Amino acid sequence: MNSKNSNAQHPPTVFVLFGAGGDLSWRLIIPALFNLHVGKHLPEQFAIIGVDRQDYTDQSLAEHYRESIQQYSRYGTCSEDIWQSFFQLIHYHKGDITAQPCYDELADLIAKQNKNWGHHQQHKEQIFYLATPPFLFSGIAKGLGAAGLSRDREHSRIVVEKPLGRNLETFNEINNVLRTHFKERQIYRIDHFLGKENVQNILAFRFANPIFEPIWNRNYIDSVTITVAETLGVEHRAAFYETAGAMRDMVQNHVLQLLCLVAMEPPVTFSADDIRDRRMGVMHSLRSISKDQVNRYAARGQYGIGWINGAKVAGYREEEGINPNSNTETYCALQLHVDNWRWQGVPFYLRTGKRLSAKVSEISIRFRDVPHQAFPASAGLNARPAQLVIRLQPDEGIILKFLAKQPGQELILRPVDMRFSYSDSFKTPSPDAYETLLWDIMRNDATLFVRSDQVEAAWELLMPILDVWENNQAVNFPNYSAGTWGPESAELLASREGRSWFNPALFEFIK
Ligand code: BG6
Repeated sequence: MNSKNSNAQHPPTVFVLFGAGGDLSWRLIIPALFNLHVGKHLPEQFAIIGVDRQDYTDQSLAEHYRESIQQYSRYGTCSEDIWQSFFQLIHYHKGDITAQPCYDELADLIAKQNKNWGHHQQHKEQIFYLATPPFLFSGIAKGLGAAGLSRDREHSRIVVEKPLGRNLETFNEINNVLRTHFKERQIYRIDHFLGKENVQNILAFRFANPIFEPIWNRNYIDSVTITVAETLGVEHRAAFYETAGAMRDMVQNHVLQLLCLVAMEPPVTFSADDIRDRRMGVMHSLRSISKDQVNRYAARGQYGIGWINGAKVAGYREEEGINPNSNTETYCALQLHVDNWRWQGVPFYLRTGKRLSAKVSEISIRFRDVPHQAFPASAGLNARPAQLVIRLQPDEGIILKFLAKQPGQELILRPVDMRFSYSDSFKTPSPDAYETLLWDIMRNDATLFVRSDQVEAAWELLMPILDVWENNQAVNFPNYSAGTWGPESAELLASREGRSWFNPALFEFIK
C-alpha cells in the first residue's frame, strides 16, 4: 500500500516458505520475490528458506524455480548475473512439517543465518509463509510456536492463504490455533485481489477526489454489480474445488472484499486498522440471508459442455477427478443489501463463475434515472442510465458512461464513454498482486490483508446459503453451457426487481 521506495534499508529478513516445492510457490510467490529482487525492493540482507519434504538441495530448488521465473516473471529473460544474485538467496530445508524436529532445526538455521549477518543490535525480521494446503496450517503454527519462532511479536509474522476453513466452525478452529501462537497483528491473511492495482485504486478514486463521494450513496446510485468471471475451468484442482465451489473459492473472500471497498465509509487515516475497521463496518451492515430466503437472494450454477474461444470444452462433471454427479457450484450469484444510511435500498448484485464467456472482473455502478425526463420519447430510445465501470482486469481502467446528443438536427441521445486506462496513463507496468502483498508483509503493513473479524463475518453471512445448497442437491445441474454468462436463475435474481446484469464484454476497454 505504501509508495515503493527501496526496501534496501530494511532490516535483515529471513523468508521461510513452507510448501516450497508446491504450485503456489512455483507459480506466484517465487516470481513475485524475483520481481522485487530485480526492482531492488528486497532488503539488502535477505534469505529464502524453502521447507518441504522432497529431496531438493539449495541448488536444485533454485533450478526448479528458474523455469517458473522465466514463465511468470516480467523480468524472466534477465541476465545470468541477476539470476545468480537471486539464486544465492535460496536455501532448502528438508523436513517433515508434521513433526517438531523440523521446526527446531529451522530455528537453528534462522539463528545461524542471523549470526552470519552480524549487526547484533539490529533486530531481524522473520516471515513464515504457509504455501501449503490449509489442513497443515494449525500444525505449522504449533510447531513454530513450540520452537519459539513466534515469540518476537514485532518482528515475526505468519502468512496464510485462503481458504481459511470450509465453514465458520473450521475457520474458528484454524484461527484459534493461529492466535494461540501468534498475535493478531502478526497474522497476515492473504486475499490476492486486494493487491491488484485497480482494486487499490478504488480507494484512491473514491477518497482522493472530491467529486465522487457526494454522489456515492442511495440518492444517486441505483445498484451495484460486481462481476468476477473466468473462462478457465476447474483445471487440475478437482480435489480442492469439489470441497469448495464458487461460493467458498471466490465470494467468501475476493468478491466480498470488493464489495467492502465500494461500500465502506471514508477512513480517517490510511492506517491498516482504520481501513480495516471501515471494511469491517460494511460486513457488519450486510443484511443476513435466512435459510428460507436463499432461493430468493442466491443462485447457483454448474457448467456443462460448451465452447470457449472457439474450442469445445468438457462439462464440469466430465472433468478429471470430478464426481459425475457432483453438486458443486461453479457459478454463483447473490443479491445483498447493506443496511445503513448510505446504502439503504441499493441492491448489490455479485456474480462469479468458471467457464464463462470472458475473463473479466469489474464493478459497475449504475446511477439513478433523472427525476424528470424532459426530452421527447423519440430522443431517448437508446437512453440508458449513467454508469461507472471500474475494470479490475484485464485492461485496468475506469469508464464513465453517460448520454450525449448525437450530432445532427434531430434530438437523439446516445450513450458515450469517458475512459481512463492504466496502460495509457502510466507507462510503468503494474506490479503483480503478490508482489505488492509481499512487499507490504516485509514492511509490516497489514492494510491489504484480511483481519480475523472480517473472515468470520463473511462465513457467518454465507453459512445459511452453503448449508441449504449442501443439503439440497441441485436438480438441474449442469444448468449453463461453458462459454455463456451463467444460468437463467441468476438472470431472475436481477430481473425480479426490473434490473439486468450488464454484459461486461460489451464494455470495450481495449483501445
Ligand atoms: C483464486 C481462486 O483465489 O483466484 C481461483 O482459488 C481463481 O479459483 C483465482 O481462478 C482468480 O484469480 P485471478 O487473479 O486470476 O483473477
